[in-house]
Amino acid sequence: GSRGHRNFWPLDYDVMTDYAKSIVEGVSPTAEEIGMKDKMLRRISTICDELVPGSRIIPFGSLVSGFATKGADMDVIFAHDTVDPQPSSLESNIPVRLASEFLKRGFEVDLLIKTRVPILKLKTPTKETPSRPGSPLTEHSLQGEAVVEEEPWPENVSCDIGFKAHLGITNSHFFRTYSHCDPRFREMVLFIKVSLISSSSSSSSANGRQQWSKNRDLNSPYFGTLSSYGYVLMVAHFLINIVQPPVLPNLQLIPPPADTPVSELTQDGYNIWYFKDLSKIKSGDLLPNGKNEMSLGQLIHEFFQYYTTNFNFVSECVTIRTPGGVMYKQQKGWTSARERVGEMNNTYQDRYLLALEDPFEISHNVGRTCGGGGVRRIRGEMHRAAAIIRKISTPLLNEPAPVGS
Ligand code: CTP
Ligand code: MG
Repeated sequence: GSRGHRNFWPLDYDVMTDYAKSIVEGVSPTAEEIGMKDKMLRRISTICDELVPGSRIIPFGSLVSGFATKGADMDVIFAHDTVDPQPSSLESNIPVRLASEFLKRGFEVDLLIKTRVPILKLKTPTKETPSRPGSPLTEHSLQGEAVVEEEPWPENVSCDIGFKAHLGITNSHFFRTYSHCDPRFREMVLFIKVSLISSSSSSSSANGRQQWSKNRDLNSPYFGTLSSYGYVLMVAHFLINIVQPPVLPNLQLIPPPADTPVSELTQDGYNIWYFKDLSKIKSGDLLPNGKNEMSLGQLIHEFFQYYTTNFNFVSECVTIRTPGGVMYKQQKGWTSARERVGEMNNTYQDRYLLALEDPFEISHNVGRTCGGGGVRRIRGEMHRAAAIIRKISTPLLNEPAPVGS
C-alpha cells in the first residue's frame, strides 16, 4: 500500500504553512479590540476600587501572553491585601459583593466555587439583556438599585476575575517572554487553539474559541477537557524539548545572575526564576545547535505526530523546566486520582490521565481537568489533524506529476 511512501517522499509543507498563517492572521485580535479591552479593564478596575478601596485588578492570561484570539475572554486577578479566604458572612465575601455590583450594572454574572479558587465570570450586557437587576443573588444580598452607566459597555465581552491565582500572572509573563523568542510559538498556539480541529468550515470566523469549544468541545476544563493554558504547555514542551534543533531555549535552565532579587526567584514557595533578557535571547546564543528553520506547517505536523505517536500519555508527564522535558508520572507520584480540599473548603479531583506539569507550581497537574473521554477525544482530533496535514503535504496526492517533463 501507500504506507511506506512517507519515508521516501519528502512532504511539501508550503500549502499547510500558508493555510496556518492565514488562520493565525484571521483570528488575531485587531488593534482596535486590544484598545477596547484595555479601556474596559480600566473601568472594571475603577469599579473594584470603589467597592474595595485599595484593591487592584491585574491582567494575566492570553491578553498578557499574546495568545489571545479575537473575542478572547479577559483574565484578571482581584488583588487586595485583606481578601479573607473564609469570610464570616456574605457581606464580607468579596467575590459575592463584586458579583452583586456587576449584576446591578446589567452584566451576566456567574460565580464558580467548584474551582480551586473562586472565579467570578462576567459578561458585558448585550442589547437584548436589559440592564436591570433581577437575579436572586441581587435580591437577597443587596439593597442597592441598578446603576445607570454613563457610557455603554462594549457588547458581549467576557472577563473572568480570579481571587488568588497569583502564579498565573507570573506564568503569563513567562510565556510572553517565550513568545518573543520566536514568532512560531504564538503562531502554533493560535493555530492549534482554533483549528486543529475545524479543518474546513469558517475557520476565520470572528470567534475561533467558540468553534473549538462548541464544535469539538476540547477546550472546556470545566467539562472534562483541557484549558488553553494546557495547550500552551504542550506546544512549549514540544518547541523547547522535542523538536531538533529546538525552536526555543529552556529559559528556566539558565542560571540566575548573582544579584537577582528574591522576588524573581521564588513566589509562594515555588521556583519562578527564568531568563528574561530579550536581547540575549534574540541573539540566538542560547540555542547552541543553531536555529531551527522548519516551516510553521512542518512544526504543526510534527507536533501532532509527537503527541499521537511518540508521547506516552499513560506513563509520561509533559514538563517544560526539566532537561529533556519528559518525566514519568511515577516519578511525580501522579498515579491515581485523589480528592483534595481547595482554598474555599471545596473539594476537587486530582486526575492524572493527562499529565502536564505546571512550569512553576510543579505539584499542579494542568491536565487534571481531563477525563478519560477528554483525553481520547483530544488524541483523536490530533490524529485526524496529522492525517489531514500529511494528505495536503504529499505532493503526489495533490497534483499528478507532469507527464513528459
Ligand atoms: N492558568 C494557570 N493554571 C491553569 C490554568 C490557567 O496558571 N491550570 C493561568 C495561566 O496564566 C493562563 C491563565 O490562567 O494564562 C488563563 O487561562 P486560560 O484562560 O486557560 O488561558 P488563556 O491563555 O487566557 O487562553 P484563552 O484566550 O483561550 O482564554
Ligand atoms: Mg483566558
